[in-house]
Formats: sequence, C-alpha cells, structure tokens
Amino acid sequence: MSQLHDQVARRRTFAIISHPDAGKTTLTEKLLLFGGAIQMAGTVKGRKAARHATSDWMELEKQRGISVTSSVMQFPYGESIVNLLDTPGHADFSEDTYRTLTAVDSALMVIDAAKGVEERTIKLMDVCRLRTTPILTFVNKLDREGRDAVEILDEIEEVLKIRCAPVTWPIGMGKRFKGVYDLRHDCTHLFSATHGGRIQTGEVIEGLNNPRMDELLGDQAAELREELELVQGASHPLDLDAYRAGKQTPVFFGSAINNFGVKELLDAFAEYAPPPRPREAGSRSVDPEEGKFSGFVFKIQANMDPAHRDRVAFLRVCSGSYKQGMKMRHARIGKTVQVANAITFQAEERKRLDEAWPGDIIGLHNHGTIQIGDTFTEGEDLKYGGIPYFAPELFRRVVLKDPLKTKALHKGVLQLCEEGATQVFRPLKNNDMILGAVGVLQFDVAAYRLKDEYGVEAVVEPVQVQTARWVNCDDPKLLEQFKTKAHDNLALDGDDQLVYLAPTRVNLQLTEERWPDIRFSATREL
Ligand code: G4P
Repeated sequence: MSQLHDQVARRRTFAIISHPDAGKTTLTEKLLLFGGAIQMAGTVKGRKAARHATSDWMELEKQRGISVTSSVMQFPYGESIVNLLDTPGHADFSEDTYRTLTAVDSALMVIDAAKGVEERTIKLMDVCRLRTTPILTFVNKLDREGRDAVEILDEIEEVLKIRCAPVTWPIGMGKRFKGVYDLRHDCTHLFSATHGGRIQTGEVIEGLNNPRMDELLGDQAAELREELELVQGASHPLDLDAYRAGKQTPVFFGSAINNFGVKELLDAFAEYAPPPRPREAGSRSVDPEEGKFSGFVFKIQANMDPAHRDRVAFLRVCSGSYKQGMKMRHARIGKTVQVANAITFQAEERKRLDEAWPGDIIGLHNHGTIQIGDTFTEGEDLKYGGIPYFAPELFRRVVLKDPLKTKALHKGVLQLCEEGATQVFRPLKNNDMILGAVGVLQFDVAAYRLKDEYGVEAVVEPVQVQTARWVNCDDPKLLEQFKTKAHDNLALDGDDQLVYLAPTRVNLQLTEERWPDIRFSATREL
C-alpha cells in the first residue's frame, strides 16, 4: 500500500483557467519546459499545428483562431507528477470545460495584468466554486504596461469573491519592470528577458534591505519597500488551509513569455496544490488510497485520430491503481470488461499505458458503451456524480442533402453527441434529428465533422424550439397521461431520456403549471 500512498502524494492534477489571450498556451509551454517535458519552447504551438495537419476538422478551429479541443498532458516536476488538463478557451465549449474541471484537484488562474478580471474568468471561477476547487493565481504580462498590482488584487477580491494572498510582488511594470520580490523567501529575482526557450535565472538578491537592491533598482527599491508595507498591512497572509478550502488564492506575478516568475509559481504549485482527495461516489466517499481501482469518465472524444477512427473516453483514476490488462466493472451497465489497451497522453503523443494512479487520466477505447459520467471500478457498484448536462439554449434541425445517407447521419450524430458538446433530440412524432447546443459555433463544428468524419453532407436549419427540460415523474400513470397529452413536444435524448422541447418560454411555464407533479429539470446530472 505504501507505493499507492507515495504515488497519490506525488500527483498534482489541475487545469488552467483564463480568458482567451491571457497567456494560457504560453504558460502551458513554459510549464512543460520547466518540467523538462520539452527542450525548447514553441513546441506546444508546434504541436497544435501538427494536430491540424492530421486532423482535418480542426481546419475550422484554425480558420476561427480558437481552441475547441482539449487534451491531457502528464509530466514530472521535481518529485511531483503533474497532470495538466487542457480546456477549450471558447465560450461555446464551456460545458466541456465544466466537465473537465470536475476531474481536477486544483486550478491555476491566469490574468492579463492590463485587462484584469475578464468575463470568461468570472464564469470559470463560478464553476470552480461549485466544487471549492483550490486556485492559484498568476498575473501575467508584467513586461507590458498594465494596471496597478494593488488594483488587480482588489478587482480579484471584489469580482471573483476570493481573498488574495500575494506570494510574489512585482517591481514596476512595462519598461520599468525589474523583477519580483518573493515574500516567502525574502529575496528578489531580477528580471531578465529570455524570449528563447532556455531556462535562465537572473540575479537573486537576498533580503529586502540589502544595499544591492538600492544599487541596482535605485528609487524603485524604496518604492518597493513602501508598497510592500502597505500590501502586507492590507492583504491576507498566506493560509494554506484557506487556499485548499477555496477561500483564498495565493497570487504570483510574472511574464510567461519571458519565463519570468514561472518557476516560483511552479515550485509553490508543487508544494501547495493538493494531491487527489476523497470523492463522493453515491453511497459513500472513496479515499484515493483505497487499494481497489475506481474512476469516472469526464470526457469523450470521437475520431481524435482520423487514421484510427476511434472514440476515446477520458477516465480520471480516483482510487487504487490501473494495471494493464486489468478487468473493470462498468457500473452503469453492470458488466465486467477487460481493458487491454488504455492510453495516456504524455506531453507529445499517446502511447500504451502500463499503470496509472489516482489523479492520472487514462483513455479507454469506446465502442459506444461508455457515456460521460460513467464509473468504472474493481467490482463495487459506485457512482461518481456531479457531472451535469445542461439544457441547451439553441436548437437546429439537421437536414440531410442526400437522403440515402440517413444511416450514416444517425451514426455520426449519435457518436458526436456522445462527446456532450452538442446534444441530440429525436422527437416522438417524427424522424427528425434536432441538435441542441449552448453556443452557435457547435452547430458549425457538428456539420463540418459530419462531412469530414462520416462523409455526410448535412445542413442545419432553424426549428421552433426555445428550450428543453428533462422530464421525470414518480407516478408512472401520470407520466403516461403526460406523454399522451404532450406527445408532439416530447423527444428522446441521445441516452433515451425523455425531454420536453418547448416552442416558447411561455409554453414551458404553462406546461409546468398544468403538470405540477411532473419534474422539469434544466440539468441532467450523470
Ligand atoms: P491563450 O492561450 O490564453 O489564448 O494565450 P496565449 O498564450 O496564446 O497568449 C496570447 C498572446 O499573449 C500571445 O501573443 C502571446 O505571445 C502573448 N503573451 C503571453 N505571455 C506574455 C507575456 O508575458 N508578455 C507579453 N508581452 N505577451 C505575452 P500573440 O501575438 O497573440 O501570439 P504570438 O504571435 O506571440 O504567438
């Protein structure tokens, strides 16, 4: 068991949350560089380009300049094994991000020093709050003119409702940016711009009152001392319990592109960020150090590699360990399956995986039996919860250009909808396929992928549906009555669950009033 204990203690599974352009990709690249996973910076962007080349549907992503895919990277950092779960930045893919955030133990928030707290950050922070995910903050782009550091902390506290504890403090910014003072170790790291991929450390000055500070920084040394006095009086001292309870965020300053302030951030991350913790699994809470394997699927992606035409289910290991060739119980369908060829995604490419520990992500090949939210165990019937499907806000009917392709259309739509970004609804009254999504871009992606991956030419057209609600009722008789009366507005989702498709909000309201004993839910929790 002690090997399990050690492996759990080393794991740091996290995601970066930020508004697009704040520097997530750049920081990811630097994390890999400092972790020794890549030799030269530029590789992550290179990797993006390589993926475009192999995966045509990402042309769309390229055209629009957004990131719609997400992946998993594992790399060592000192004694730690870091699992970084990438999330799509575009708002239309927020559900994917939401589900990915259920699989992490902490998050790193990147804020652009000039722009402060932006809209996407606010939304992502709300999601983190639901699970009290601990958050470290990195204020980026100090090499440019930005807002005052105190003002940024105030904004974080006010808008994101989380207390800030500065761990490093910037000395000037933009042209006057001289480095950061490390409050933990009472030393100053002087800034040296390193645009290349090398790790380079500038001079480190021990002690705030060291005369070398005045010598090198001139007036800025006195300014720093004054500012720090103020900051320490007004801000919160670092409190790791408060951080782990999601009430306080330790804040770091730096410039990702210059590799500056990143090492302080990573060192603190390895030290502070929590390893996997116990998780609720329906009937009981499961400790990661329990000997038996368990985990849940938080994401499914079809055709990651078009050459293989496969669908991969991303499973987060929650307890015990995965060993190659082991048998797992697929709790929802009550079957035991042998898993011979799970995969992992180590920095660059995927390769076969021999073992995995709590906090790690493994990829299972999915032949249509795995859904987002499914739990796999070594025998016990557990059910990790808390992964919701949200009722979509936008609806379109899929119309086929070539009627002979109906079968391929059904297959394609159902497989793409397994991923959860778009949802499919099949009305009881006809053979239509209605897609639902939270962002309009998802319809374009679906149509594009249907053509590219399934050879089906389809268009989407408007349909008279404004919102959807999952329908439940404890009284089967009443449910039957409702089904008869509301037949024309009912549909089945991709998982054969009953859904009410409301043509207008008023219609939904009236229906809810008319049927008080039927439950209409805006989320379907898996
Ligand atoms: P994202 O993934 O959060 O969307 O952001 P990304 O890392 O792609 O960074 C967005 C832009 O900000 C990039 O510039 C990047 O080079 C720049 N950037 C990141 N960190 C810093 C920093 O510390 N200082 C400064 N000055 N800029 C930074 P771009 O022009 O959009 O792309 P590129 O041409 O540099 O690739």
